[in-house]
Amino acid sequence: MADARPLQLVPADPPGPRRPAVRALRRPARVVSVGGGKGGIGKSLVAANLAIALARRGERVVLVDADLAGANLHTCLGLELPRRGLADVMERRAELAEVAVPTGVENLGLVAGAMDHPDAANPKLSQKARLVKQLQALDADRVVIDLGAGTHLHVLDLFLVSEHGLLVLVPEPSAVENVYRFVKAAFWRRVRHAVSAHGCEAQLRAVIGAGTFRSPAEILGALSARHPQSGAVLARELAAFRPRLVVNQARTPQDEQVGQAVVGAWRKFFGLRMDYLGHVPHDSEMWRAMRARRPLLVHAPEAAAAQSFAQLAEGLAALETAEIASGRAT
Ligand SMILES: Nc1ncnc2c1ncn2[C@@H]1O[C@H](COP(=O)(O)OP(=O)(O)OP(=O)(O)O)[C@@H](O)[C@H]1O
Ligand SMILES: [Mg+2]
Repeated sequence: MADARPLQLVPADPPGPRRPAVRALRRPARVVSVGGGKGGIGKSLVAANLAIALARRGERVVLVDADLAGANLHTCLGLELPRRGLADVMERRAELAEVAVPTGVENLGLVAGAMDHPDAANPKLSQKARLVKQLQALDADRVVIDLGAGTHLHVLDLFLVSEHGLLVLVPEPSAVENVYRFVKAAFWRRVRHAVSAHGCEAQLRAVIGAGTFRSPAEILGALSARHPQSGAVLARELAAFRPRLVVNQARTPQDEQVGQAVVGAWRKFFGLRMDYLGHVPHDSEMWRAMRARRPLLVHAPEAAAAQSFAQLAEGLAALETAEIASGRAT
């Protein structure tokens, strides 16, 4: 049974060259969440394979299935549903660290989803706060969360607390609309949190009521013009909201460029900096791996899509290095 022994994120064999033998200073686990609004576009496969690629870089990774409506990450990894999972954490029967199980991939643990719990799809604020605290406190370098589909508040909140919010986009018009809806909902939730924390809701409401705006960027520009201090506070808060886009199932060179185009358009519209992390090609090995009940990176490590996950993992690490160098992160 997959959950027969507690997770050993640090393997028993001697540490490899990339892992320091003693971890004297521990930083909170870096949280990467994977969402995208639309169902069935590859969010779970991106989360699972990216987590494996990160683990193969030597990071200790825990994959968390937070798709409260249709948890299936364990299947993506070829595992039986573990006896305990996120539902036990949400319902205070267990701590997050206790329900993480080994996956058969070195350095990778799994917290399985909350299946068959009718209340789990609608967590209370206190449940969410406890979860976020435990996610960040996990003894791991990285936590990768599969958010599932939709723009429920719990999805947006997990996305917003993540160090990296990854959006999966397939190059089709309806998927672009869906991911746009997701960004818009997350953007306004972030703005609402910020104005409420800084007590400038009334100013924002007055600005919105007084004009006609074509974009959120224009609204925030008008707020800054009228209330420079509030505008500066909001600009600072929003600078930290920086979704990363991944185009999945790219079939043509034009598909690969969709990500750049979308990031450029949204930057103009929302006034946000976003990053295009890269693309994963449409690859029949992906569903073959699914049928074989094995993750792609284990089933066909040479496949084109498998290689692109390694590049995505590298891209994330490169962004972090660049941000540390520019003083944005620690
Ligand atoms: N790069 C790819 N190449 C080929 N097929 C893919 C690729 N990515 C995803 N798929 C196909 O899409 C299907 C759905 O993937 P997945 O379950 O990861 O989607 P999801 O977005 O998590 O769905 P849900 O919203 O239902 O949770 C997979 O079974 C697979 O066949
Ligand atoms: Mg899924």
